[in-house]
Amino acid sequence: MNIAVIGAQWGDEGKGKLIDILSADADITVRYQGGNNAGHTVVVNHKVYVFHLLPSAILHPGKVCVIGNGVVIDPQAMLAEIKELSAKGLQVTANRLKISGRAHVVMPYHRILDGLRESKRKNKIGTTGRGIGPCYADKVTRCGIRMVDLLNPRVLKAKLEDNLSEKNDTFHKVYGQKGFGFSAIYQEYLAYGKKLKPYITDTAIFLYEAMQRKKTILFEGAQGTFLDIDFGTYPFVTSSNSIVGGACAGAGVPPMAIAKAIACVKAYTTRVGEGPFPTEFSDDLMERIRTKGNEFGATTGRPRRCGWFDSLLVRYAVIVNGISELAIMKLDILDELPKIKIAVGYRYRGKIYREFPMDSEVVCDAEPVYEEWDGWQTSTKNARTFTDLPLNARRYILRLEKLLKVGVKYISVGAQRDEIIVR
Ligand code: IMP
Repeated sequence: MNIAVIGAQWGDEGKGKLIDILSADADITVRYQGGNNAGHTVVVNHKVYVFHLLPSAILHPGKVCVIGNGVVIDPQAMLAEIKELSAKGLQVTANRLKISGRAHVVMPYHRILDGLRESKRKNKIGTTGRGIGPCYADKVTRCGIRMVDLLNPRVLKAKLEDNLSEKNDTFHKVYGQKGFGFSAIYQEYLAYGKKLKPYITDTAIFLYEAMQRKKTILFEGAQGTFLDIDFGTYPFVTSSNSIVGGACAGAGVPPMAIAKAIACVKAYTTRVGEGPFPTEFSDDLMERIRTKGNEFGATTGRPRRCGWFDSLLVRYAVIVNGISELAIMKLDILDELPKIKIAVGYRYRGKIYREFPMDSEVVCDAEPVYEEWDGWQTSTKNARTFTDLPLNARRYILRLEKLLKVGVKYISVGAQRDEIIVR
């Protein structure tokens, strides 16, 4: 059965760990959107692996990883990740990694433009600075450079010349900055093409043929539903469709190819970057949870903002992603708290909202309506079955199931691969 795993909050829900577990049973793991703005941390035998572009499934020998056409690839970052794994004793061979020739390439000017555009904005997004937005913008304005272009010097030359002429104008005239010369970038990117050539292929055909042979596929969403370009807290979002629907366009598979969608959520909420966050902690809990949960961005190291679980947010994600199972991650981080809150509504100008609102003003200024539950104040780290959990932890999970109208299948109680309950 082909499964998709997505984040139901603002990213960093712990998808890396779940995908690491699920990919053991899948033949192929596919990334379909985002780029090296993502960061998945997986801990195996106390060794920490951080992935930005490669699916964490690469840790399982014999499994194939696919980077779909919907991903934007910084070739330098991709090669660095491959090199780092090889230094840790894991060879990423061409039969284990397939990169779509249709995936767009993050160019040096994208990274610079990302920073310059941020600097001009009154309301900053707080991007990761990896050039993701400008790269997707070029894709949509039809001037982007694709991975397959790195293999064709004539096409790369023509596209790069066109791009530099326009981008350099922007650098000079809008930002008063020096532009880029052609030769250095051209040579650098041709060299990346040579190194990555063994991996570049038509991944839609690869996946089609794999499905014909009854191979199972895991679709790995990056970021989270509320960073999705359409359904997120726009404009404080990333530039791709991180919802399950994004997998069809971003991998070149039909909707019927995805049999089940699992949403990953934290037992609380975090967000990195700017934008509304109704249940954000305003007191010493912020520091406490951030420290205990090690809530610092895997990509930029920025401290993550932390807050209570928001059931409006996650219920909305359940709806737009067609979620049939939930994975609740990092339950152990709440172990010591005497009281735990869940947002069950938003109050704004005398009105109570029970569904996540579209209007950004409401999301920004609403006051959450909370339910307060007793904490369990016992370690959950060694729980391996649902009944191992303290009563109040079980009550918390059961309440979330009721609010979200979907069952919780996985409960993670620690960073290690085996610190998880599967119901
Ligand atoms: P961008 O994707 O770099 O353009 O950043 C846009 C927004 O998405 C910023 O708020 C980032 O902090 C956030 N973001 C992007 N990727 C991730 C991720 O993998 N986890 C959490 N937040 C992310």
